[in-house]
Amino acid sequence: MRGCTLLQCPSKNLLEEGHNARNGGHVESLIDQSPSVPCFEFLFDFFQKHPRREIRRGAQVDDPMLRALQLAWEGFGQTYPNPPVGAVITRGGALVGEGYHRFAGGPHAEIEAIRDAGIVVDKGPESFENASMAVTLEPCSHYGKTGPCAERLAALHFNDVQIATLDPTPKVNGKGVNILRDAGVCVEGLGDTSEYARVARALMHPFWVRERSAKPYVIVKIAIGHKGTMCNDSRGALPITSDASRYMVHQLRAKVDAIAVGASTALRDNPCLDVRFGIGAKNPERRVLTRSHGFDCSTLKMFEVKAKDRGKSKVMVDATPGGFALRELAREGITSLLVEAGPTLFSAMLKASVVDELWVFQSPNTHEGIGVQDVLAENAMQLACVRDVGPDTLQVYLR
Ligand SMILES: NC(=O)c1ccc[n+]([C@@H]2O[C@H](COP(=O)([O-])OP(=O)(O)OC[C@H]3O[C@@H](n4cnc5c(N)ncnc54)[C@H](OP(=O)(O)O)[C@@H]3O)[C@@H](O)[C@H]2O)c1
Repeated sequence: MRGCTLLQCPSKNLLEEGHNARNGGHVESLIDQSPSVPCFEFLFDFFQKHPRREIRRGAQVDDPMLRALQLAWEGFGQTYPNPPVGAVITRGGALVGEGYHRFAGGPHAEIEAIRDAGIVVDKGPESFENASMAVTLEPCSHYGKTGPCAERLAALHFNDVQIATLDPTPKVNGKGVNILRDAGVCVEGLGDTSEYARVARALMHPFWVRERSAKPYVIVKIAIGHKGTMCNDSRGALPITSDASRYMVHQLRAKVDAIAVGASTALRDNPCLDVRFGIGAKNPERRVLTRSHGFDCSTLKMFEVKAKDRGKSKVMVDATPGGFALRELAREGITSLLVEAGPTLFSAMLKASVVDELWVFQSPNTHEGIGVQDVLAENAMQLACVRDVGPDTLQVYLR
């Protein structure tokens, strides 16, 4: 990567470095109005540098929290409306069990890890005395489909629980820590400046944006030629960028909850909007954005149901200026939306200030069309980082 600036993620980790909450830590609200961050670029970069390796139960785990973060990344893009979470249990440094939240309605990461250790959660007096758990998000304290995880951990006598970041939602936000602390479990944080805490907060960030702003975290992706132009003619369906860039776009598709295109691109290019290139993840939800009722989607490939489909294809109508159906998407629980925008939608979304992260793939080849540099300048998008992707360049901008 060249010249990458990794900005601090919002929301503070108030479990301060080295602080043992067993003795009475003060836990405050995490509401924070910090500027947006290149959340997806940061996470791709981090997990490319730190891929997860297979290890057997009983083997030593050098860095349990790193492993918990890697597990959470497995679930990233698969768990909406919930955030992704990973958990690792060790005893004397050896792996006892691990897991991650795989899908909404499924067991939470802590319960997956306990089950992986061979314990039936609701039965028996089994105990995790002398065992430690590293978990990327504060264990929940409320009754949902799996019951409060904090109470389960306390009942199973964990010696200590390391938490990478607190849960910012008001119904948890420190209550999980308090349950553990009151039960005599040692609870540790990572400290605000820890890289792992930043990664954990980035994993939570789309969820938090939706909770705070009633819109998904919006990533717009465009492809441009070397003169900074986007195709908007009949050649639009032809790829502008290389296979390396297209592979990366499919990796990105695999990590978002939903992908959207404008009505015009849907009709002209008729894209499938699925995840290909052998990337195993399920297809995200697919949406067409339009301002007019009566849009005919009967011929669109994205409406053909495929084995990898997780969700549905839908036409979303929103004629409000700058609306783009984002509120409705948030109401559906969508935490992250990738918009593969044509020139009209790109300009409109930037002008409406709804873009959190902009990925611009630039090919060295010439293309005629609409220049994007003026649009970027007019809308005060800040270049956050640049990296090579095969023969192309990826520039990531922030609002
Ligand atoms: N280079 C790239 O990265 C890239 C990416 C995608 C597409 N393309 C090319 O771009 C061309 C299409 O570009 P385009 O500019 O005509 O279309 P577009 O930007 O893909 O989509 C524009 C459409 O979005 C819908 N829309 C929904 N909400 C809107 C809002 N608030 N403001 C404005 N539009 C809104 C409108 O549909 P209604 O009129 O029905 O309301 C509008 O016609 C195609 O040739 C395609 O190949 C290039």
